[in-house]
Amino acid sequence: MRNKVIAGNWKMYTTIEEGVVLVKGLNAGLENNTLENKKIIVIPPFLHIPSVIEEVKKAGKIHVGAQNCHHEKEGAYTGEISPRMLKQAGVEYVTLGHSERRQYFKEDNGMLTIKTAAALAENLLPIYCCGETLSEREAGKEREIVQQQVEEGLFNLTEEQIKNVIVAYEPVWAIGTGKTASPEQAQEMHAHIRGLFRTKYGENIASDLIILYGGSVKPNNAAELFGMPDIDGGLVGGASLKAEDFLGIITSC
Ligand code: 13P
Repeated sequence: MRNKVIAGNWKMYTTIEEGVVLVKGLNAGLENNTLENKKIIVIPPFLHIPSVIEEVKKAGKIHVGAQNCHHEKEGAYTGEISPRMLKQAGVEYVTLGHSERRQYFKEDNGMLTIKTAAALAENLLPIYCCGETLSEREAGKEREIVQQQVEEGLFNLTEEQIKNVIVAYEPVWAIGTGKTASPEQAQEMHAHIRGLFRTKYGENIASDLIILYGGSVKPNNAAELFGMPDIDGGLVGGASLKAEDFLGIITSC
C-alpha cells in the first residue's frame, strides 16, 4: 500500500506573514487528523521557508519542500540556492522540472537529471514534474513526451536513488486553467509512467513509486482523481493557498 501525498505548491504567492497564517490554519485544521497513510507537504517560496518551518514544527503534521534548487553545493551562481542550503534550513523535498521552470527558465531534461542527482546527494527528496502541453496532446504525443521527460530526467539514477523520488504528472493545459484532466485521462498517464518504471527498475520499485497528479485539483474533484489506482495524491497549486481548500483536498482522500 502506497501512502497518499498531498503537496501544496505556493508558487510565487503570499507574503511571509500570509504564509505563516496559512500554516497556522492548516495546523489547526489537522489537529484531530491522524493523517494515517497520508503525507502533507507545503512548498513555499524560498524566503518563507524559515518562518514556515518554525510554524509547522509546532504541530509536527506538515513537511516542507522548496520549489527549485541549483545543482552545485555552492559557488558563484548569483541568485541561486543550493540543495545543501535547503537541507540545512530543514527542507525535506524539492520540486524539480515544474512546467513553469521548463517554460520560462528553459530547464530541460538534461539539466534536470543533474539537479535531481544533486538534490539526492544532499538527501533532499525530489518531486520530479512532467507533463505535456495542449498542442502536444492534440498531436497525440502526450505519452511520448512524458516518457522522454521521465527517461531523460530520471533513468540514469540507481535503484537506491530512485526509491527516494516522487513523480508528479502535471499536464500543462490543466495547470491554473480550471480544466482538470479527467480521472481516466490522468489514470492512463499514471499507469504509463508506472509501466516505464517497471520496465526499467522492476516491479518492486514501480509498485512503490508515488505518482502525484497536478493541474486544477480542487476539493470537489480530488476524491475522484485520488481514487484512481495509480494516482497517489496531488500536487496542488491555487487550492493550496487557502487553508480551507487545501484541508478539503486532504480530507477528501
Ligand atoms: P493549479 O492547481 O493551480 O492548477 O496548479 C498546479 C500546479 O502547477 C502545481 O504545481
